[in-house]
Amino acid sequence: MLLSNFQLPCGIQLNNRIAKAALTERLSKKDHLPNQRHIRLYNHWAKNGAGLLISGNILVDKIHLEAAGNIVITKETPKESFRIWTKSVTNHGHHFWAQLNHAGRQTNIFNTLRPLAPSSVKLKKMGFFGLPKQMTDGQVQSTIDAFVHAVAFCQDVGFTGVQIHAAHGYLLSQFLSPRTNKRNDQWGGSIENRARILFEIVKQSRKVVGPSFPISVKINSADFQRGGFEEEDALFVIKRLEALDIDLLEVSGGTYEDLTFFTQKNLKASTIKREAYFLEFAKEVRKESRIPLMVTGGFRTKSLCEQVLKDGALDIIGFGRPFLLDESFPNGFVSGSLDKIEEVNIQAMSKQILDMAAGGFYDYQIARLADGLPLDLHFNSNLAAFRLIANELIKGVAYKM
Ligand SMILES: Cc1cc2nc3c(=O)[nH]c(=O)nc-3n(C[C@H](O)[C@H](O)[C@H](O)COP(=O)(O)O)c2cc1C
Repeated sequence: MLLSNFQLPCGIQLNNRIAKAALTERLSKKDHLPNQRHIRLYNHWAKNGAGLLISGNILVDKIHLEAAGNIVITKETPKESFRIWTKSVTNHGHHFWAQLNHAGRQTNIFNTLRPLAPSSVKLKKMGFFGLPKQMTDGQVQSTIDAFVHAVAFCQDVGFTGVQIHAAHGYLLSQFLSPRTNKRNDQWGGSIENRARILFEIVKQSRKVVGPSFPISVKINSADFQRGGFEEEDALFVIKRLEALDIDLLEVSGGTYEDLTFFTQKNLKASTIKREAYFLEFAKEVRKESRIPLMVTGGFRTKSLCEQVLKDGALDIIGFGRPFLLDESFPNGFVSGSLDKIEEVNIQAMSKQILDMAAGGFYDYQIARLADGLPLDLHFNSNLAAFRLIANELIKGVAYKM
């Protein structure tokens, strides 16, 4: 099943059911463009057989970065380096989609002290995030334009599809969640209003790219926080996205306040044991909709992957960390030499920095692959957390000079 192909509603076919989910690369310099390290990293992955590679988040705004080393696409961005990158990856015969994002209030203080967000609700995490300013109606409209421009740009430079990031607590996910969206205009209140910005981006993007270019959306099944985005909201959004003809829905969960997909906090013990965190929600989606479904988070054994595909629980399996835990993944996995991806048990000197230690550990593995080096799974995770923060501080300041 893992190796069977899959046809998207737009008519395009994926070669197999394995997708590399977005993994932020943080490899750009001050110009925020793709470079040789991106090319090396994605050529490594492209050779290893996933039918779909989704880029790490590419930002549609120079200020609202997820990290200082992000790639950015704005109206001023030159196209040449993107063309070289996409050609080198798609030459291997698989799909390469760009994930587009705006960090909103999850932009750290090294990038801006006053980020824009749906409402002025501060993210509390070790003082790394400033008090956001509520976006004006005009700023919401220009954010929609920025996404639509980036979608058209991606089609023009040779990506074979796009994914709009509306998960993990970034701007579009902030609009979706009543915890972070306190507006009472057309962009807030009911779920219809909270999702309007996402629906507009998808609608306008489809008009620009035409019917046969894949558009995907990544959303949370839930934020896993009281008063946040709930499964019922997610199901409403999914049914509307289906009517808007998206090609692939990716389901994940959590925000910076609770990185569920990293830490598994707030998930039932039975869910963690079963390894694929968002599978139960996928079943609910299947009951209500026929939208092509990709589920990401926790898939580690081949037998489970085969089983869920056989059961029709989902269409595409998204993998993140397995690409950073085994250099042969997914080739070894499908050829039979590797039945299970072993996790690394990441420890940190304090609970507060555990997610930074994990983030830093995987970020270091990405940097190694980008430099043509083998993975180093013994890298000290406290050092990894320090490296992550130091990089943000140094690049955040240096790139503004
Ligand atoms: C280092 C790292 C970077 C990530 N960057 C992104 C990103 O840019 N966009 C995104 O949607 N998810 C991102 N994620 C989340 C993954 O796409 C995925 O949802 C998550 O890792 C769960 O899947 P897994 O259990 O297979 O790793 C990242 C995860 C890791 C480990």
